[in-house]
Amino acid sequence: MAQKLQTLGEFIIENQSSFQYSSGELSSLINSIRLAAKVVNHEVNKAGLVDIIGAAGDTNIQGEDQQKLDVYANDKFIQTLTNRNIVCGIASEEEDDFICINSQDENHQNKYIVLIDPLDGSSNIDVNVSVGTIFSIYRRITPVGTPVQLEDFLQKGSEQVAAGYVVYGTSTMLVYTTGDGVNGFTLNPAIGSFYLSHPRMEFPVDGNIYSVNEGNYFDFPQGIKNYIKYCQKEEDDRPYTSRYIGSLVSDFHRNMIKGGIYMYPQGSKNPKGKLRLLYECNPMAYLAEQANGIASDGFKRIMDIQPTELHQRVPFICGSKNMVEKAEEFMRNA
Ligand code: AHG
Ligand code: MN
Ligand code: MN
Repeated sequence: MAQKLQTLGEFIIENQSSFQYSSGELSSLINSIRLAAKVVNHEVNKAGLVDIIGAAGDTNIQGEDQQKLDVYANDKFIQTLTNRNIVCGIASEEEDDFICINSQDENHQNKYIVLIDPLDGSSNIDVNVSVGTIFSIYRRITPVGTPVQLEDFLQKGSEQVAAGYVVYGTSTMLVYTTGDGVNGFTLNPAIGSFYLSHPRMEFPVDGNIYSVNEGNYFDFPQGIKNYIKYCQKEEDDRPYTSRYIGSLVSDFHRNMIKGGIYMYPQGSKNPKGKLRLLYECNPMAYLAEQANGIASDGFKRIMDIQPTELHQRVPFICGSKNMVEKAEEFMRNA
């Protein structure tokens, strides 16, 4: 007999009680991310057809060109989370400052805050390559009933209560964790529902894929250079295979399924690395650890870093346990 398909909606309801603060609020929050993801997916899929491709003429706080779809995805996620009145604050890679949401009837009664990279890999949009959305959810630490403060957003990654990503790829998937493993859901575009397709995702302990922008090789720290040479050496089960899409979400997703390591180290162009701790590295680190992998800045656990600013950047090494530990060993010994 064919196995019964489980939708994301059913999964959320069935697993709500296993979450330590099971008030239903987090379930509604994941549900609204699901909704926004479908809307953005629709737009991403149309990108080749309509005149939406190209820079919107604005730059974000980090001085990078914003593509139109970045703006669109940012607006959709913020709108959906605001309208449904379930979060007290949002911070986005595309916004200079965090947004305090004051629900008029309830007066700051919501407990959750969301941090988001609305469109990750935006340089890939106009060449029909997979992009994504990354989200990270915390409980506020300032008292309910008052406006959220910067400190609510500057929590260590280890305080996350949920995190996930959407990958708008050959199929669109939503992958997330609430601290009890990682599950992946694939969108059936004909029906508009996500179905559980990848239960209990885990990084293989070892892998043979390394993902890094090797164009920056001469700028990398010696430890990373040595590790790349190790990956390329013909010995034991090496050389490894190099795969780099340039969308963190997609590179991470592939490595989690096949086994691999992703690296975005520091260099003179990016002295603290390029990726953002709050919108990209912490959520991916939470997913990685929940999937039996590791996320490190080369020396220490990403989720132990105390953030000091919203748009902070950090070197990022993430993936299969044995591979990340090997890269850390090269960093220590360089
Ligand atoms: P974003 O599109 O949100 O700015 O993120 C792009 C990030 C990440 O997705 C990707 O892995 C990395 O930048 C690629 O950077 P390079 O082009 O420097 O390799
Ligand atoms: Mn990004
Ligand atoms: Mn982005």
